[in-house]
This record gives sequence, structure tokens and C-alpha cells, in this order.
Amino acid sequence: MDKIIVEGGVPLNGKISIAGAKNACLTLMPAALLTDEPLTLTNAPRLSDISTMTELLESLGCEVASLQDGKVLVLGAETISNHTADYDIVRKMRASILVLGPMLARDGHAVVSLPGGCAIGARPVDIHLKGLEALGAVLDLRDGYIHAKAPNGLIGATYELPFASVGGTENLLMAATLAKGTTILKNVAREPEIVDLAECLRAMGADISGEGTDTLTIKGVAKLHGATHRVVTDRIELGTYMIAPVIAGGEVELIGGRRDLLEAFCTKLEAAGAIITETDAGLKVSRRAGRIQPVDIVTEVHPGFPTDLQAQMMALLSFADGTSVLEERIFENRFMHAPELQRMGAKIEVHGGVATVTGSETLKGARVMATDLRASVSLILAALAAEGETVVSRVYHLDRGYEHLVRKMTACGAKIRREKE
Ligand code: EPZ
Repeated sequence: MDKIIVEGGVPLNGKISIAGAKNACLTLMPAALLTDEPLTLTNAPRLSDISTMTELLESLGCEVASLQDGKVLVLGAETISNHTADYDIVRKMRASILVLGPMLARDGHAVVSLPGGCAIGARPVDIHLKGLEALGAVLDLRDGYIHAKAPNGLIGATYELPFASVGGTENLLMAATLAKGTTILKNVAREPEIVDLAECLRAMGADISGEGTDTLTIKGVAKLHGATHRVVTDRIELGTYMIAPVIAGGEVELIGGRRDLLEAFCTKLEAAGAIITETDAGLKVSRRAGRIQPVDIVTEVHPGFPTDLQAQMMALLSFADGTSVLEERIFENRFMHAPELQRMGAKIEVHGGVATVTGSETLKGARVMATDLRASVSLILAALAAEGETVVSRVYHLDRGYEHLVRKMTACGAKIRREKE
């Protein structure tokens, strides 16, 4: 395993290119199963989660060609030769459940391991399953696997999601594209990754309307064809790097950054002290003079404040001139970065889904441990501004969602390096 060592106190100045969105790519790739023609994805991120999804799709008989150093993926599922998504792969990444809807829609049957929980919560898939049953699927859960059948194909229906689940929306949207008749999905997720998936499916011949609102209407078609689609910018990578010059000082231009993907986050970051300027190439970010200001955060489904940026904001607010309250409403256990930030001197009290952060003038570098993807990067952000050296261990979590993080930060002057543990 690797560790990352950061020498704090160095302002950041320079440019960082933002990659394609992990959470868009992880649903766009399984969409290739819906057609026997090639689907080409450009602006794909180079991440271990993408490699895991590649491994899963190849195990189903889908060919995945990785071109231009992984930035272009050409996926071809001429036939699905194996309809079982095995536990050994699925347990590594919960997004694996997103092959269920496409396989059911394409061939009328699929066997997919239940994903199991992960560090941030139990993460059930009941919404995915109830929605597929509404479309006529017959599901049998046994031996830790979902045995799904739709012998006469899926039938369009109206289904209201009990919660605007991102993955649930994606699975049902993909399944509905080949169902007989019209499907109306209500209370769906509105994240930019859903909009991106709908645009890709439409390019493949799907008949979809309503993406970005709380209702999707899908008129089933007999067949989808291949397409070429550019993966949308990663708003979570963007938000993470926007915090870096605010916490450490300096000025960074985020190439490819789009404010419209992160309006709620940008408003809170400006309240905390950021200056955000739109440029021809993206977004330029720096910090107003004086201390970081406290702000209260409640994580919500889009367009609310994204849960995937909560940990990063907690790192920033640990330096604020006052007290901030962060309420995590999406996941039941997403404060595991708090004890690690406390090791650096952060004053954080967690009660259930609410964390109260009393800011300090500075934090002290320490040995800390990454626990999940976004918690890991919050420790790196805190280390940029902390006094002295911080060593973050188990950084394989970072590789899931941040391509070339050390290289991108080094290019802006950060004193950061990666070594074997
Ligand atoms: C997606 O996860 C993202 N992952 C997550 O990003 C993100 O945090 C999450 O959406 C929320 O925005 C990918 O897109 C690959 P959900 P997903 O279904 O689809 C409950 C990251 O850091 N729920 O919207 O799993 C669930 O327990 C990752 O990049 C059910 O109860 O999120 C959770 O509390 C982390 N039943 C809440 O909904 C279900 O059937 C949100 O889950 C499904 C979900």
C-alpha cells in the first residue's frame, strides 16, 4: 500500500485540468450492454473504479478497448456471453449493480451479486429492485445474488421512487429504454450524471424526456445503436480542487470547470471566503483576505449541497473563524474523516448525522489514515494548510476517484509526494 506525505503551509498557484466524471462514466459504461454496436466514450477518467467496471463488463463478454492512455473507451457488447455478475468483482464496487437493468432489458435475464455495504453505509438496492419489478421483472434473491428474469421483456410502467436514488434512477432509466411501451419514473435523481446518461442514451436512439427534472418519461424502442459520447466534467473532483487554494492560499484555475454543475456548493464556498471567477478555460479560485468564515451545510440530493463534497468542506471549516454545523442527510455513516481530522487538532463533535466544527487558526500535521474515497482527499486538503508534515496512509482509496492527484497538486507548487508504505 502507498502513503502520501504533505508539507503544509505552501500556497497553490497554477492550473489543474478536471477529468471526466467517475460517477457518469460508471453508468455510461454499462449502457454499452443495451446495444450490439460499439459505444465510444471520450474524456473518460483514468481511475481504479473504471478498471473495475472494465473487468466486470469484460467478464460478461463486452469488449472494452482503452485508447489514448485511457481517455477514450470503446465498448462493444455484440453479444452478452455471460449474464452473471460475480460477487468477487461486485464486492469491490457497488456501481456494479448498474449492469442489472441493461442486461435485463437486452436479454431478459441476469444474475447479479448483491453489492453489500461499504464504509459509508449499508447502501441497499431495494429501490433498484422494486423499480425493475414495476417494469415486469421477476426477481428471486438467494445465495447473495439477484436472479432476475423478464421472459417476455420489460413492460413500460409508472413508478415513483421512494427516494431520489442516483443509482436507482440510472438502472431504471437504462432498463426502460428497451421496455415495451412508455415508462414514467417519478421522484428521480436530478444529478448532472443523470442528465449525461440521458444524453448518451438519446444519442444511441432512446426516446427520453425530463432529465434534470424529478420526472423521466421514456418511450421504449426495439433497439439501440452505437454512439460516441463525451463524459461530463467531474463536479466532485472540481469542487475538491476548488477548495485547495481556499484552504492553502494562492490562486488556481480549474480547466474545464463549470459553475452550473455545482451552484449550491459554490455559494457555500464563497460564503466561507472563496473568490470564484469564470474564465474562458474554466473557473479561477482564490481566497479573500482574512480567515475562513464558518458556514452551515446540509447535504441534499441535487441541486442541493452534494454529499460527496461534505468531507472536503469539513476540512476547510476546521480552519474557520467560528463554528459550523454540517448535517449529512444522504448516508448514515459519512463522518469517518472526523476522527482523522481530530488527530490534526480539528475540534469536531459528531452526534448522529450532525457534525459541529469549531474552527482553529491552524492544524498540526500528523499521521492519519484514509477510510473512504472522499474522506481521504479531505485529509490531503487539511494537510495542505496544516503546520508541518502529514502522512496519509491507505491512499488506494484516492485512486478510485482522483486521477494523478499528486501530479496535479505538485504542478501548483504543493509539497506532496507518494511513497510505498
Ligand atoms: C451515487 O451512489 C454515487 N456513486 C455516490 O458517490 C454518491 O455519494 C451518491 O450517488 C449520492 O449522490 C456513483 O454514482 C457510482 P444513492 P448511489 O442510490 O447511487 C439510499 C463517491 O464518493 N438507497 O443516491 O449508491 C442509500 O442507502 C460515491 O463518488 C436506498 O435506501 O447513491 C443512501 O443512503 C459515494 N435504497 C442514499 O439512498 C436504494 O435502492 C443515496 O444512495 C438505493 C439507495
